[in-house]
Amino acid sequence: MPFQHIQRLTVDLNHKNRHCILFLSGAKPVLPTVADIFKQSIDRLQPAEVFYGHGVAEAEDEVVLLLMHVLQLDFAGLNRAHDQRMTAAQIQRVDALLTQRVEQRIPMAYLVGFSVFAGLSFVVDQRVLIPRSPFAELIDQGFAPWVDVAAVNHALDMCTGSGCIGLAMAHYFPTMQLTLVDLSPDALDLARHNTKALGLSDRVQCLESDLFSHVSGQFDLIVANPPYVDEQEYRALPAEFSHEPAMALVSAAQGMALPIQILAQAADYLTAGGYLFLEVGYNDGVLERCLPTVPLEWIEFSLGGQGICVFSRDDLLKYRSEFNQFLQAHVSQHLR
Ligand SMILES: C[S@@+](CC[C@H](N)C(=O)[O-])C[C@H]1O[C@@H](n2cnc3c(N)ncnc32)[C@H](O)[C@@H]1O
Repeated sequence: MPFQHIQRLTVDLNHKNRHCILFLSGAKPVLPTVADIFKQSIDRLQPAEVFYGHGVAEAEDEVVLLLMHVLQLDFAGLNRAHDQRMTAAQIQRVDALLTQRVEQRIPMAYLVGFSVFAGLSFVVDQRVLIPRSPFAELIDQGFAPWVDVAAVNHALDMCTGSGCIGLAMAHYFPTMQLTLVDLSPDALDLARHNTKALGLSDRVQCLESDLFSHVSGQFDLIVANPPYVDEQEYRALPAEFSHEPAMALVSAAQGMALPIQILAQAADYLTAGGYLFLEVGYNDGVLERCLPTVPLEWIEFSLGGQGICVFSRDDLLKYRSEFNQFLQAHVSQHLR
């Protein structure tokens, strides 16, 4: 009988004995509000020691995504629903998703099927890395002071995954054409889906290519967040990372094979005066050690994140022999 069912849910959600369903007069159940379930969900996530870092910083953020999904509300709608009572079915759904999050360590973005990047919603699943790049801040600042985005006709997002970086650029810079490149046909399927969902199909093209191998033409701006995690390092990452495609994370030669191939090749695809922005995240020190004679200009972020360096086309040409030296010494022929 439904009444008992609701009581069982109460027990599931109340590992800390918090009453999620109150019994006021007689046996009439009063279902918990969105605010009640918000708090109880946080209380359930916090002691579980799940890893945050897949586009969110803490339990509160994950629960916001969870409730937006279950209640089918946007962020503003969720805020307004604070005192709304949840249904038994909604509570059960929250419970089931939290169980998967805690027991299987599946990142919340995969469970709810979307992630927010640069203020835009992207559909994500296990075919793509969950968006979390500090490129969002760079986009917000219009790539200043290096680039005049109004003068950029065509930009390329190398290793695009869900398309988040290139599509955010296309969204915020309405005169820009974007080419999104990835080696994974699965990732490109999703990038195409996101392109359509954001209404950007007229200015965005998706291209399957192993780095620049199928790219033609020249671009005023290239952005890249390639895989940069060393194989051994990858095996030691929190369990949440095992749900992401390994090819989105792992790169040979201490993680630097793909980033340094991009450094070695990008100049050929940049217009005169063009720029490359390359992310290597927390492996910024590794890139410095791999290229000890190359001055690296790192961007400082005020919203968190690290490890994006910027190169003019001229500097990419100037230091090309250093990039090639590293590749010759550390990256086997078939990887080049
Ligand atoms: C770190 S993820 C970045 C995804 C997205 N740009 C983001 O910031 O969320 C790296 C992406 O590079 C792609 N990739 C891996 N090897 C590649 C290669 N050789 N050429 C092109 N893309 C590659 C992966 O499929 C993955 O989508």
